[in-house]
Amino acid sequence: MEVIIKADYAEMSKEAAKIIANLLYEKPNAVLGLATGSTPIGLYKELVRMHKEEGLDFSKVVTFNLDEYIGLPATHDQSYNYFMNDNLFKYINVNPENVHVPNGMARDVEKFCEWYEDEIDKAGGIDLQVLGIGGDGHIAFNEPGSSLASRTRMKTLTEETIVDNARFFANKDDVPRYAITMGVGTILEAGHCLMLANGEKKAGTVKKAIEGPVTQMVTASALQLHPQVTVILDEPAASKLELKDYYKWVYNNKPKC
Ligand code: GLP
Repeated sequence: MEVIIKADYAEMSKEAAKIIANLLYEKPNAVLGLATGSTPIGLYKELVRMHKEEGLDFSKVVTFNLDEYIGLPATHDQSYNYFMNDNLFKYINVNPENVHVPNGMARDVEKFCEWYEDEIDKAGGIDLQVLGIGGDGHIAFNEPGSSLASRTRMKTLTEETIVDNARFFANKDDVPRYAITMGVGTILEAGHCLMLANGEKKAGTVKKAIEGPVTQMVTASALQLHPQVTVILDEPAASKLELKDYYKWVYNNKPKC
């Protein structure tokens, strides 16, 4: 696991955008796994800037989003479909046919989840998966107690997640209780996982995920089992890490060979 600590949110976002841009220069038809939440907004802004000012090309890119609330149509301003369009897709030249965000209105959720997994397989698997981390240590909506081998499925949200996400809704009772989410097992099959976290509020959770034991109680800790993970943090989110100085030294002294 490579841990990169940047001074602030803007630097964290730029570093993440650079990693994605480098992948697209190397592989223009890369398959990107994308995340929602407030964390990746700066990353998406930077990608939009790179598209507009530097010609970063998304025309052959295929995308799969991690999750979606059940019961919210794509037109709902708090749906993840809406979020992705509003923060990224409408500003770049991605082909809408190549975009996949789970359908929160699917009639048969189980069938939909199987189809979603098949589509990821058909696309050749996810090359790079962007991840945030929830206050309770979840990745996507894999709440504490999720199997570390789980696949795309319906998940019931915890009270903590509902309270965390209530800030985006008019009131707490409007936050959906259920979501469709890629499983931890699905995420671990991505070629490269790129997790971002910022702010002091996330420091304790980040420490548990990176330096704590691998446990289904903090599903982000499963990333420790993946051979290629990059974690990019701002200083406040990194503030509780035991090996903070070591990670910084490693990053600043990369051998040139
Ligand atoms: C939601 C999403 C996660 C995201 C998390 C953190 O629960 N399902 O994918 O990582 O929120 O959100 P934020 O980035 O707003 O802290």
